[in-house]
Amino acid sequence: MEISEAISTQRAIRHFSDRPVSDETVRTLMEAATSAPNAGNRQQWRFLVVRDKETKRRLGDWYLQAWTETVSRIGDEAYTQPYRSGGVLGEQMENIPVIVLACIATGSSHITGGLDTRGASIYPAVQNLMLTARSLGLGTVITTMHTQFETEVKQLLGIPDQFDTAALIPVGYPAPDVSFGDVSRGPLDDVVYQDRWGNPLD
Ligand SMILES: Cc1cc2nc3c(=O)[nH]c(=O)nc-3n(C[C@H](O)[C@H](O)[C@H](O)COP(=O)(O)O)c2cc1C
Repeated sequence: MEISEAISTQRAIRHFSDRPVSDETVRTLMEAATSAPNAGNRQQWRFLVVRDKETKRRLGDWYLQAWTETVSRIGDEAYTQPYRSGGVLGEQMENIPVIVLACIATGSSHITGGLDTRGASIYPAVQNLMLTARSLGLGTVITTMHTQFETEVKQLLGIPDQFDTAALIPVGYPAPDVSFGDVSRGPLDDVVYQDRWGNPLD
């Protein structure tokens, strides 16, 4: 698959089939993740691949609880597309073949200060993983709801104090009635300028 096709069709997938994901495929995804740019090439990342059903169930319970609390806090906006499937994602987490927790060291990757270089040292890896998954026909979605239970998640998985979880990424083949599709984003001219802020791109 052309990289441009993977990019333009890698939309969030939140409903998965129970088709297994092979160990070899998981390795391919993790090779892609760990090829990403990162501050000073210090590779202060760790990735936890969760396949154990009971562990996934507990992650799903926390996800569902966080989603339920978030929905009640933000009201109607919660029923926009990105949130609508949150409940089912939590409920179904134990049945999703693979859950990846992307983690980043707590302090030592601050090289320049300024904008969040810790996030910038883990999210390119997450995107590499997701694009590679897309190219292999696998669905993913980057999620962060679980961070509302960061302490509990870290304790469950034995994640040491020197690391935070940055994203929880379900990975699996899409459910039969779910397809990849063109991502929906605003027009380029609203957000891309040339030479000076506000000037349209040629
Ligand atoms: C920082 C971040 C946090 C996100 N957290 C969640 C989440 O907790 N649950 C979820 O279902 N999607 C989450 N998403 C996915 C977004 O909802 C999704 O990327 C966005 O709505 C665009 O959807 P699309 O890729 O299908 O076009 C998150 C995305 C980002 C970048």
